[in-house]
Amino acid sequence: MTDLATRLEAVVGPKGLRRDAEVDLLDPGWHPENLRARLLVAPASTEDVAEVVRIAAEVGAALVPQGGRTGLVGGTRTCEDQIVLSTHRLDRILRLDPNERVAVVEAGVTLEALQTAAAAYGLEPGIDIAARGSATIGGMVSTNAGGILAFRNGVMRHRVLGLEAILPDGSRLGDLTRIVKNNTGYDVKQLLIGAEGTLGFVTRIAVRLDPMPRTRVTALFGLPSTAAALDLLRQALGDGRLDLRAAEVMWADFARATAAANGISDSAIDLSHPVQLLLEAGGPAEAPLTEAFEDLYAALIEEGLEIGGVIAHSERQRDEIWRLREDTGAIYRLYPAAPSYDVSIPATEIDGWLARFAADLAAYDPTLGFFSFGHLGDGNLHVILKRPGPLPEGEETAIDDIVYGDIGRLGGAFSAEHGIGSKRRAALATHADPGKLALVRLLKASLDPKGIMNPGKVVSTP
Ligand code: LAC
Ligand code: ZN
Repeated sequence: MTDLATRLEAVVGPKGLRRDAEVDLLDPGWHPENLRARLLVAPASTEDVAEVVRIAAEVGAALVPQGGRTGLVGGTRTCEDQIVLSTHRLDRILRLDPNERVAVVEAGVTLEALQTAAAAYGLEPGIDIAARGSATIGGMVSTNAGGILAFRNGVMRHRVLGLEAILPDGSRLGDLTRIVKNNTGYDVKQLLIGAEGTLGFVTRIAVRLDPMPRTRVTALFGLPSTAAALDLLRQALGDGRLDLRAAEVMWADFARATAAANGISDSAIDLSHPVQLLLEAGGPAEAPLTEAFEDLYAALIEEGLEIGGVIAHSERQRDEIWRLREDTGAIYRLYPAAPSYDVSIPATEIDGWLARFAADLAAYDPTLGFFSFGHLGDGNLHVILKRPGPLPEGEETAIDDIVYGDIGRLGGAFSAEHGIGSKRRAALATHADPGKLALVRLLKASLDPKGIMNPGKVVSTP
């Protein structure tokens, strides 16, 4: 390891290498084993990344790419003898052109930094996630991040116009185009998007930008049922006045827990109803948006539904409403390392799936409750069990079966936006389509025959 460290230091310089105690000074992020590795290399250029990968390939050392270290499925955890390949010195916005509406960034730029830079031109990257302050664009590409705007703009894959990456043999994939139409053979950059660092290391990315609306209005509706929330969402999407930018859902226990954790006691934010739907719309002026939300509210009252609702009338109130939804950390403080799930369900199946899941979980263990919330606009639900984790192995498999059992048949996905990492490998082996899994394994074996890129994540080189 010492020889290897010396060779790597010769490439990246003393600023680009940390060992042992120097690694321990860093924040491990959301997985306690992210920084078990005793060596961390942070190249400051694509050429240096290529050289580091070539050296690792030559000696057969394992590289674990890391960005903000706030992924949720253990995709960046390490063992002592592995090497962290960090994006933290690749932090430049290389180009941001308001006429092209494209940004070209290095992998370590955070989403928030890109959002701020784009906002100066009235633009936005068209993707937004709660971990915006830590998540890097390279990490979001590697995990194919989803988030709040996915129901209208797609996921990271749909925001990337081009990318550059270093492949596991140290060769460079240079596909940093800045255009939408590009049918020049197989779109191989897509292989790197969502590969969680197992097929290469993404160094630079061209991201498309969209104009930001001049104003936005946020509303929180309290509703009697999931069916009512889906119905309201359908009406809001069909209302020509509302350009919807968020449709986030929280079932009662989740919203009450995050409200309590954040001391949110605004009497206008009424959390007494079983389901809360956060809707946010953008547009050129506030009044028509407010009016549209008020009309939706009035129509529900007209139907005789028992509902509540508030339209945020200050930034403070808007922040509180968003904090209710985004402070998932509050749940993990109640139940450390609680088992959690991240599924996608087609809109027409959501209500039925939730009822089926709740009944099966109650039959399995009547004492085990759960929190649920998510991105209703695209059917991405998050479920967190009300117990600390991790689960013993047998129980883990039993609950995986309860959560995932019917998802393939319903046309959904057993991992929606968080990925496979190390946490969902068993689910991948059991619940993935066998034809797809065979192709995934074939790709991993051909691109990374030595198994040096993020081993132990997603699938392994045989
Ligand atoms: C969120 C994360 C858990 O939606 O995906 O807050
Ligand atoms: Zn989410």
